[in-house]
Amino acid sequence: MDLMEAIKGRRSIRKYKPDPVPEETLQKIMEAVRWVPSWANTQCWEVIVAKDPKIKSELATALPKTNPALSSMADAPIVIVLCGKKGVAGFKKGEAATVKGDWLMFDTGIAMQTLCLTAYSLGLGTVVIGMFDHKKVEEILGVPQNAEVVAMTPLGYPAAEGATPKRKELAEFVFYDKHPGK
Ligand SMILES: Cc1cc2nc3c(=O)[nH]c(=O)nc-3n(C[C@H](O)[C@H](O)[C@H](O)COP(=O)(O)O)c2cc1C
Repeated sequence: MDLMEAIKGRRSIRKYKPDPVPEETLQKIMEAVRWVPSWANTQCWEVIVAKDPKIKSELATALPKTNPALSSMADAPIVIVLCGKKGVAGFKKGEAATVKGDWLMFDTGIAMQTLCLTAYSLGLGTVVIGMFDHKKVEEILGVPQNAEVVAMTPLGYPAAEGATPKRKELAEFVFYDKHPGK
């Protein structure tokens, strides 16, 4: 699939078929994450692949009832939870190298988009889920203190296409030479 076609065609999918994802397809998606760029190649991401329906339903309890992606947690055959190791990305000899502190949100963000685009190119749906009780998910999955949960996504074959939300025009966010100051 052409890259621009993948970037523009990927949609957040909130309705899934129960059909299983072949192991080979899952491994291809994980291989794509392996090649994601990261701060000084620190690769702080950790990926938990939840297939057990009991774990998936426990994870769903961490989402507020108002989250539009809630039902997809049970419907999709897989839920992927993306974690980041703390104090790795953006650090040099244990000290933050920039005013931004930990860059784990940034590196795991790239990992998540790579995962979503690769999944889409293989006919699978995803939706990034950020609105949930992170501490609860860390407890459910036994995530240690040196890492944190960042985001989740269901992974499976779409049962319905998502609508295409409007995007800003380029002129609204691309500036030349200097920031316009507002
Ligand atoms: C960091 C992040 C967090 C998000 N959290 C949620 C969420 O909790 N629930 C949900 O239904 N969608 C969530 N989304 C999906 C966005 O709503 C969606 O990407 C956006 O509306 C654009 O639609 P599109 O992905 O189909 O282009 C999240 C997306 C991002 C990038």
